[in-house]
Amino acid sequence: MDQVKFTQMKDGDREDYDFLTKHEIEHTKGTADRLLKALVELDEGLSGYQITRLGHSLQSATRAWRDGADIDWVVSALLHDIGDIFAPYNHDEYAATILKPFVREQCRWVVEKHGDFQLVYYGEHVGADPEKRKAYAGHEFFDDCAQFCERWDQSSFDPDYDTYDISFFRNMVREVFAREPYDPAVISAKPQPLMHAETAAERA
Ligand SMILES: [Fe+2]
Ligand SMILES: [Fe+2]
Repeated sequence: MDQVKFTQMKDGDREDYDFLTKHEIEHTKGTADRLLKALVELDEGLSGYQITRLGHSLQSATRAWRDGADIDWVVSALLHDIGDIFAPYNHDEYAATILKPFVREQCRWVVEKHGDFQLVYYGEHVGADPEKRKAYAGHEFFDDCAQFCERWDQSSFDPDYDTYDISFFRNMVREVFAREPYDPAVISAKPQPLMHAETAAERA
């Protein structure tokens, strides 16, 4: 069997759906590499900044790494703008949706809201509300998102920063996307600080 028998889903039988399930599991194993490929494609888009979108993504992840952040944070920083390719008007939600089954809720939330939080740095110049973040005042991850933007996102447009290559992050992305999707031990894991001085010192 190399394809299903049906042309309408409602006509499929157990054999068809068993075949598809196996096929889809095989396909999901390639998610990390497809994401890395997409990230490289971000390089092809016109950015107008002094560095490409790929350069920005790598710089964000490099800063996260150097701050001693854990793997969920580093991979979230790397992929936080991946939505720019297909969802320029809600790129933050798009990236958060990709990460959702594989990282803890803290990181998912921060990636989902980073677009609103970033406005504090430039909203006044584009006719948007710089204080849009205020809508989330009191949220348990408010400070994390503010710190994510301050240390890793808004700061990562520097062509002179010593940024790691994509190969440095490849196995981290593969590890995260090889996790059991929606594993409660991952999703509901204890929040972690963005900065960990001891780990940062070891990595320096
Ligand atoms: Fe963004
Ligand atoms: Fe960004």
